Amino acid sequence: MVTLRLTWGLLVLCVVAASPPRYARQAELDNYDDNNNVDIDLNKEGGDFYEYYDEIDETQMETDTLVPDEDIDPSNGASFEEEEEGENVEHEEQEERRTVEENEHKELPIQPQLIPSGSGESGTLMGPSAQGGMATCMLCTCLVGSVYCDDLKLDRVPPLAKETTHFYARYNKIARISKSDFANLNKLKRIDLTSNSISRIDDDAFFGLPALQELILRENSIRQLPALPPSMSLIDACHNQLGSTGIQREAFKDMPGLLYLYLTDNNIDHIPVPLPDSLRSLHLQNNNIQMMHEDTFCNPHDLNYIRNALEDVRLDGNPINLSRTPQAYICLPRIPVGALI
Ligand SMILES: *[C@@H]1O[C@H](CO)[C@@H](O)[C@H](O)[C@H]1NC(C)=O
Repeated sequence: MVTLRLTWGLLVLCVVAASPPRYARQAELDNYDDNNNVDIDLNKEGGDFYEYYDEIDETQMETDTLVPDEDIDPSNGASFEEEEEGENVEHEEQEERRTVEENEHKELPIQPQLIPSGSGESGTLMGPSAQGGMATCMLCTCLVGSVYCDDLKLDRVPPLAKETTHFYARYNKIARISKSDFANLNKLKRIDLTSNSISRIDDDAFFGLPALQELILRENSIRQLPALPPSMSLIDACHNQLGSTGIQREAFKDMPGLLYLYLTDNNIDHIPVPLPDSLRSLHLQNNNIQMMHEDTFCNPHDLNYIRNALEDVRLDGNPINLSRTPQAYICLPRIPVGALI
């Protein structure tokens, strides 16, 4: 009887360990350091995750070597059972501890989290179709759908497996993004190319990515922001060389889920209108904006229009006198930050 309960308890624990928080870890590994809302959210998630994982590890240590292999398969999501059995877990866990304390403590050989680069297993995780992706995982670190290639002196985007959801290649020497670099990556949600030497991007390099939500191109030498798909939620092109023609007309108009638009430290001379209603943050510090129009944020023909979401507009470091256009902010929850003298 005791053995039966013990096995059941373990099964439930392994199921708990098996899936959802692993995705939180992907977010945490990214130490994206702009002081914005996204950052705060990510850190919070990550923090919870680590606490959570400590707990699991401890329990696994105590419960000996009964863990069946298939339970560490990351694709083995079983959150239903997890929810249903939530109460039992606690109870069983206590039982377990009592029983196991009498046994010898052995360390578990299974550490499913990080697959080391070069490990053959990463290819399996990425799926059999991923020839190029497999080679990339010899060089980069692959963790489920995330590929981490930070600080590897890369001069181009490595071949990525179709299953890739998050791609990180920060602090490399990539100079150009071609159309073929991200072709057919239909699951790709986040691309982070912070601090490379990118000066040229093919205009259709990102547009065909149906799942792309977050694109981080900070600290490059980009003069022209390429066309982006309607699925975007975060665009960060701070510290580049975007000038008056660097952003296409109505570039952000058809992005109904766009939340964060960061264009700090460029040479932009106008606010890129129209801005989608979903937008929460617009950072345009240290640019060359001199003019504001009454319809930049609000609708001069509809005084009832309120742009609730846009709480964070930064225009400091621009040669603009915000006091000259008080009518331009009446629909905003907060006045933009910038020179009011
Ligand atoms: C800014 O605009 C206000 C209102 O038009 C004006 O009184 C003020 O002198 C301007 N400041 C500068 C530095 O131009």
